[in-house]
Amino acid sequence: MSRYLLVLLLCFLGLGFGQGFKVPFRVNDVLPVLPRQLSWPVLNNFHSAVDLLPYYVGSVTPNNGSIDWKGACFYGNEARLEFTEGDREPAGGILYLKTSDAHSWTCMDLYVFATPYRVTWDYYFSAREHTLKFDSWEEPAELEYVKQHGVSVFLMPSGMMGTLLSLIDILPLFSNSHWGQNANLAFLEKHMGATFEKRPQPWHATINPEDVHSGDFLAVSKIRGRWGGFETLEKWVTGAFAGHTAVCLKDKEGNLWVGESGHENEKGEEIIVVIPWDEWWELALKDDSNPQIALLPLHPDVRAKFNSTAAWEYARSMSGKPYGYHNMIFSWIDTMADNYPPPLDAHLVCVSLIRFTCLLNLCAT
Ligand SMILES: *[C@@H]1O[C@H](CO)[C@@H](O)[C@H](O)[C@H]1NC(C)=O
Ligand SMILES: *[C@@H]1O[C@H](CO)[C@@H](O)[C@H](O)[C@H]1NC(C)=O
Repeated sequence: MSRYLLVLLLCFLGLGFGQGFKVPFRVNDVLPVLPRQLSWPVLNNFHSAVDLLPYYVGSVTPNNGSIDWKGACFYGNEARLEFTEGDREPAGGILYLKTSDAHSWTCMDLYVFATPYRVTWDYYFSAREHTLKFDSWEEPAELEYVKQHGVSVFLMPSGMMGTLLSLIDILPLFSNSHWGQNANLAFLEKHMGATFEKRPQPWHATINPEDVHSGDFLAVSKIRGRWGGFETLEKWVTGAFAGHTAVCLKDKEGNLWVGESGHENEKGEEIIVVIPWDEWWELALKDDSNPQIALLPLHPDVRAKFNSTAAWEYARSMSGKPYGYHNMIFSWIDTMADNYPPPLDAHLVCVSLIRFTCLLNLCAT
């Protein structure tokens, strides 16, 4: 699973940092009203990052009947979509969602509704017909998309409570503080069985570029700061203990360079770069999230086979290209439609891929 996806999910829920919580209540307001026997098991069992992943229940297409499914709270649900008439083209739409058969009178279902052009969400507490209004379509392309593919409906499988608790588990991971660092270490310990020991000083190595060769590998790990949380989730979903990697390249004059993806340019865009070693190293030393860097030289036998000319050709062809979900996501998805780690599926990934501006917003704060 990709770190970008999780960010997207946070964005799905309108939790872009800086905007604050848009949820109707805070979990701490609710837990005390629950019986103690109930609230502790809820706290202990329901929060894992997986609870944050929306579950695709279906797509509602206008004029094509309704879809029905079983929710987490309401066992009987039905949705249909109608266009509202504008001057010539449909101006917007109304989604009618009927909930029935609640399994308890205190539960609620939380839904995310998405087209590649928008993501919105709503929650339902009572068994009746609810409406969700799309005042207008963003552009003709969105109208065309909805006509053909409809609006995708996702259920948050653990409901409001589970989702909030999951966020509470995840949000501290992004804090650039001891609190954030401890949250990351605790997460890796709990979910990956990782253990950490504090290194003795000195914490800076001195690396002589002459000792580094083309093909040598840099494995980077951050456990705090803006990327710390992403890297923690990345480690968890890939099973690796590095959240980011880069490769060393030497040119014909013997100068050392680093090829790296996800490097921020002056415009704040994430791109692929090949930059001088000194510049890379200086950025690493300046990084206030204290990255841990391992320099892993190639085995001499492998180095002998490493084709530096081909590596440089490839690096030059990629340099300056944007780097984002489209790269990330395909590194862990095997096929277009199948074999996603549950509870992900092609619908969720498809919608996520298009929501990249959300990540940029998040990183700008
Ligand atoms: C419309 O409904 C039919 C039958 O329920 C289904 O086979 C078809 O895929 C639907 N079309 C769209 C565009 O969703
Ligand atoms: C190394 O790569 C270059 C460029 O792709 C190619 O022309 C050359 O034959 C390769 N050398 C070896 C030894 O494979």
